[in-house]
Amino acid sequence: MVVLTGYDPLPGGLRLPRGIVLSEISVLSEPMQRLLFHSGYVEPPSAAAARRTKLPTPVATRGTHENLVRMTAPRLLGGLSPDGEAVDLRTHRAAYAEPPISRRGRGDAAIIDAVEAAGLRGRGGAGFPTARKMRTVAGAARPPVVLANGTEGEPASGKDAVLLSRLPHLVIDGALWAAAAVGADRVVIAVDRSNGVAAEAVAHALAERERHEPSAVAIEVSWTPPRYVAGEESALVQFVNKGVAKPTVGAGRPFQRGIDGRPTLVQNVETLAHVAQIAAWGPDWFRLDGTAGEAGTALYTVTGAVTRPGIVEAPMGATTMEILAMAGGPSVPLQAALVGGFFGAWVPTEALWRSHTRAGLEPYGASPGCGVIVALPAGACGLSETARLVAWYSAQSAGQCGPCVHGLADLAAGCTDLAHGGGPGLVEQLRRWGSMIEGRGGCHHPDGAVRLLRSAFAVFADDVAAHSAGRPCRASASVPFIYVPDAAHGWR
Ligand SMILES: Cc1cc2nc3c(=O)[nH]c(=O)nc-3n(C[C@H](O)[C@H](O)[C@H](O)COP(=O)(O)O)c2cc1C
Ligand code: SF4
Repeated sequence: MVVLTGYDPLPGGLRLPRGIVLSEISVLSEPMQRLLFHSGYVEPPSAAAARRTKLPTPVATRGTHENLVRMTAPRLLGGLSPDGEAVDLRTHRAAYAEPPISRRGRGDAAIIDAVEAAGLRGRGGAGFPTARKMRTVAGAARPPVVLANGTEGEPASGKDAVLLSRLPHLVIDGALWAAAAVGADRVVIAVDRSNGVAAEAVAHALAERERHEPSAVAIEVSWTPPRYVAGEESALVQFVNKGVAKPTVGAGRPFQRGIDGRPTLVQNVETLAHVAQIAAWGPDWFRLDGTAGEAGTALYTVTGAVTRPGIVEAPMGATTMEILAMAGGPSVPLQAALVGGFFGAWVPTEALWRSHTRAGLEPYGASPGCGVIVALPAGACGLSETARLVAWYSAQSAGQCGPCVHGLADLAAGCTDLAHGGGPGLVEQLRRWGSMIEGRGGCHHPDGAVRLLRSAFAVFADDVAAHSAGRPCRASASVPFIYVPDAAHGWR
């Protein structure tokens, strides 16, 4: 197996794979091969092959073949300004036409059709088909609202902050395209108020629009408290309506009854950025990257034991190892990876060679989630790391449902015991508690802890056995590896 070594960023955010020669390309996953061909980084082997890789004509409002090639890889990050500043409205408009005016209560089926043909799935975690959500909201009796979810409560994730702080107009355009798709006359952008850079960039971008491009759609920002659960869609809706960022239990789903009781389309900000690009470049262009079932590219926050931690963009279907390679590759031997973030699951190293898609990770009970990958070095203690993450889950509970409040506290205490050495029957007890908690919360928050713990039992089975027998590894007493933030914030 050839591991890619070194992707050097070029000015403008493009990345050039160094040291790849054609004979090695064949060991890359098919989506990565296509990405490299389309982006012009690799000479096709022959004129015949060049013809086979011919790009379709973009259906963009302002597209040329040339900038299509430039944009194909990376697509979102390709638009970053090399000086690290947010892209201003003028620069943004040189590449993207203004979104159409939304007609209140009258959606635009053609936009939804394009999103459907593109096969876009949400990038906020659950991977739900975006067009399906749009169609439901567009068909509702009352005029809907669009809620752009940029809260990014997942501690290991940074991709939404990059989009909001560096490409705010792409996100706002996506929200306006979504508004036109469903016939919304109001857009709310939710931003974690502790994320100062993103908050400032969004506020500045909206002020620019106010001056140069006033919109018929009311666009406002909701500054959310830095709590993980605040990013859950019903919590966001309740925050906008009542100023409390806790999930509502049994109050109907946002797509039925959301902001001001109106049907509300909640989409992650990366999803909306893709919507803006699909609107500009068309579904065929979007499908140039990715797999048949999981199209386009996605942003990944790659941290842990990699040479250059950061945000990278890869085609859906690239293997996890290829994505790690875009972050410089593993810096030391790995024992596992946390995929999907704290709300995700551990996978063993064998999984790193599989496609980083829902289909590829499904056998391990994992999914790409919001695109977080944390590479765990061989020297760390996976069980101790898990125990600290489960304690974080417990601290982040919104305190409304018994299984979440008490169940997560018990689970966290039990995991900590296990990390310190455990005792007979503890693992079975933890498994039982997990089954009792799962699916019993008002939202999916507790389910995340149970999934994480189950994956730890599978991936660190040898450690579990040693800890249960009272023989914790030496690493369990060493410095924690994954940074876990505190939860000392209110809900308002
Ligand atoms: C506990 C919890 C926390 C969540 N936090 C976020 C978040 O920070 N950002 C986000 O986009 N989605 C988050 N979600 C998912 C949202 O509820 C919602 O599904 C998502 O914003 C929809 O966008 P998408 O379809 O574009 O992915 C969270 C879900 C749960 C259960
Ligand atoms: S499960 Fe936990 S986080 Fe979710 S609504 Fe209940 S108490 Fe709140």
